[in-house]
Amino acid sequence: MKHLNIVNGPQNVSAIIQGCMRMPALTKEEAAKAIISAYEAGVNFFDHATCYGAGEAEIRFSEAFPLTGIKREDIFIQSKCGIYPDRREFDWTKDSILSSVDGILDRLKTDYLDTLLLHRPDLLFDPEEVAEAFAALEKAGKVRWFGLSNTTPMQTELLKKYVEQPLVINQLQLSLEQSQLIDQALYMNNKTTEMSVSRDCGVLDYCRLNDITIQAWSPLQIGMFGGTFIDNPDYPELNKALAMIAEREGVSKSAVAIAWILRHPARMQVIIGTMNPIHIKETCEASRVDLSHNDWYKLYLASGKFLP
Ligand SMILES: NC(=O)c1ccc[n+]([C@@H]2O[C@H](COP(=O)([O-])OP(=O)(O)OC[C@H]3O[C@@H](n4cnc5c(N)ncnc54)[C@H](OP(=O)(O)O)[C@@H]3O)[C@@H](O)[C@H]2O)c1
Repeated sequence: MKHLNIVNGPQNVSAIIQGCMRMPALTKEEAAKAIISAYEAGVNFFDHATCYGAGEAEIRFSEAFPLTGIKREDIFIQSKCGIYPDRREFDWTKDSILSSVDGILDRLKTDYLDTLLLHRPDLLFDPEEVAEAFAALEKAGKVRWFGLSNTTPMQTELLKKYVEQPLVINQLQLSLEQSQLIDQALYMNNKTTEMSVSRDCGVLDYCRLNDITIQAWSPLQIGMFGGTFIDNPDYPELNKALAMIAEREGVSKSAVAIAWILRHPARMQVIIGTMNPIHIKETCEASRVDLSHNDWYKLYLASGKFLP
């Protein structure tokens, strides 16, 4: 497994993160198998959120973790707060952040989170309140490092004006199918294609300039929850290109799709979501695949993009 150091953040973290969004569907024994499979494949970083199964993902993880024999201090646990599906709102007020973290720690049965991310922007967020919440959480030893998810550069700048702690992570969607994080740079100023529309205000370059590590979510998904493009007959060219490289490297197509993200010089982490031990093992083999510059473009073009 490749590892990286998050600037001003946790060191020696695995390039591949095990996402736990799909854990609520498992028994605690199945969840323990998924955690062990990821750990044995070299993953030392686990991603949660308060809204995954309305807290069930965190509960299942804490029920399963004692069965794994893994020590708490040997892994990084991350969770996210701010999304409240039951209330139909996003909430970054101080009280909400503080009570969310207490709930997370309670459900995960741990004294501290390695990293806390604010999940999606609260349209009414007040950066001074966020700053107060983060300061209190750090002082109480409840959270070691802080970050964001799905935020634009200007929202991040606004927070940075008040928040004392470095914002070290931005969790963003990226896959061969959902590559808008990358696309716009290629088609900029081009009136003939929708690809030229900036959908994130240049967040990729912003993160690189500001030493913010990008964590790419849903690396194998179509749209947000459209199923995977791996072996999907609607993506024949992409699957052909993935298969050719997979055969050459002796790995699965899913590993090549993840390696495509890891090849980017922004040195991102990738969050996988499979709960199937065989898929976890296969997917983590991405870490030993070094795609060439040309492989990267071949896959990008096979996913339906074109060069201007
Ligand atoms: N910040 C955000 O807004 C946000 C949003 C969404 C997700 N996330 C995070 O990102 C993580 C990953 O999201 P995701 O689950 O959508 O990611 P994903 O890895 O793109 O998709 C996983 C899904 O693909 C399926 N799949 C089918 N064939 C596969 C194969 N050959 N190899 C691997 N998986 C295969 C898996 O099913 P099987 O289980 O049957 O393998 C699973 O249902 C989440 O757990 C969460 O932590 C963050």
